[in-house]
Amino acid sequence: MDPANPLLPIVKVGFLGAGNLATALVRGLVEKKVLPPTHLFASNRSSGKLIRLAHDFGVTACSNNEELVEKSDIVILSMKPQDLVAAIEPIAQIFNEKQMVISLAAGVTIKTLKKYLPQCRLVRAMPNTPTFIGRGVTGFYTQEKDKGASRLVEDLFSTLGYALEVTDEDLLDSMTVACAAGPGFVFELMMVWQDWLVEHGFDDVQARKLTVETFAGAALLAASSAAQLEELQNKVTSKRGTTAAGLQSLREYEVDRILRIAFEKAALRSKEMAKEFV
Ligand SMILES: NC(=O)c1ccc[n+]([C@@H]2O[C@H](COP(=O)([O-])OP(=O)(O)OC[C@H]3O[C@@H](n4cnc5c(N)ncnc54)[C@H](OP(=O)(O)O)[C@@H]3O)[C@@H](O)[C@H]2O)c1
Repeated sequence: MDPANPLLPIVKVGFLGAGNLATALVRGLVEKKVLPPTHLFASNRSSGKLIRLAHDFGVTACSNNEELVEKSDIVILSMKPQDLVAAIEPIAQIFNEKQMVISLAAGVTIKTLKKYLPQCRLVRAMPNTPTFIGRGVTGFYTQEKDKGASRLVEDLFSTLGYALEVTDEDLLDSMTVACAAGPGFVFELMMVWQDWLVEHGFDDVQARKLTVETFAGAALLAASSAAQLEELQNKVTSKRGTTAAGLQSLREYEVDRILRIAFEKAALRSKEMAKEFV
């Protein structure tokens, strides 16, 4: 339990949708003893995943979404964005003004959520896939500027890695690109490393391992140091050496420009998709 947040152990959290992300969150909360299983509830459209979640973690399986809403102080909307409206519209009037509703649905804005649940305290959260191994990044935006509410959401998502509150939904969109789509971009780079190693004599298994360990090692080195990334880069770059030659080429070909364009295109697509849920 977190002594600095006495509210957390007493709140009841319900997952409306018992899929991948809900399961990762339940696992984090239960295994890190942030909340006892007796305070966790779930409902799901079909029964298989719900039965598994209840069996594996001891959460209460609700027979329908109404029951889940009635039992929870915090309702986490953990269904796909395209299923959100169909899930909440028929039961919108059951939610009360004390309830906090945290939507994980990518691209669904607070304005859209407000249309269906104007009475609730609304939060948007955007986790990324490393969340599944407890090394995720979650950006969240709370509608109300209440420190207690922010702390509560931060404590919930800290069980899955690093959680950061943003003060503007546009910042959440930027995190969606850099942090949620980001692992996909990093894997694209990793595939270049891996292919190059195979072309230079390593087998697939060795090339994968060498690539993964190089990326993980660089990231952990940066995580363990307060130094700027540029300083860390300078440390592996001796004048006229191997790294310097490679970096010079990366800069001549303007790799940063290529990546920035990719980020902007992803941001544009994210905005287009958000319009589908208005
Ligand atoms: N996975 C990620 O990496 C990731 C990252 C960031 C954000 N997100 C967001 O997190 C949300 C969940 O993603 P996910 O990967 O966990 O999806 P998922 O595994 O497909 O889980 C969604 C669950 O919602 C259930 N559901 C759909 N409609 C429902 C309804 N009316 N009532 C009750 N349950 C309902 C589905 O039930 P069925 O079993 O019947 O289909 C399914 O089990 C999405 O909005 C996504 O945008 C995911």
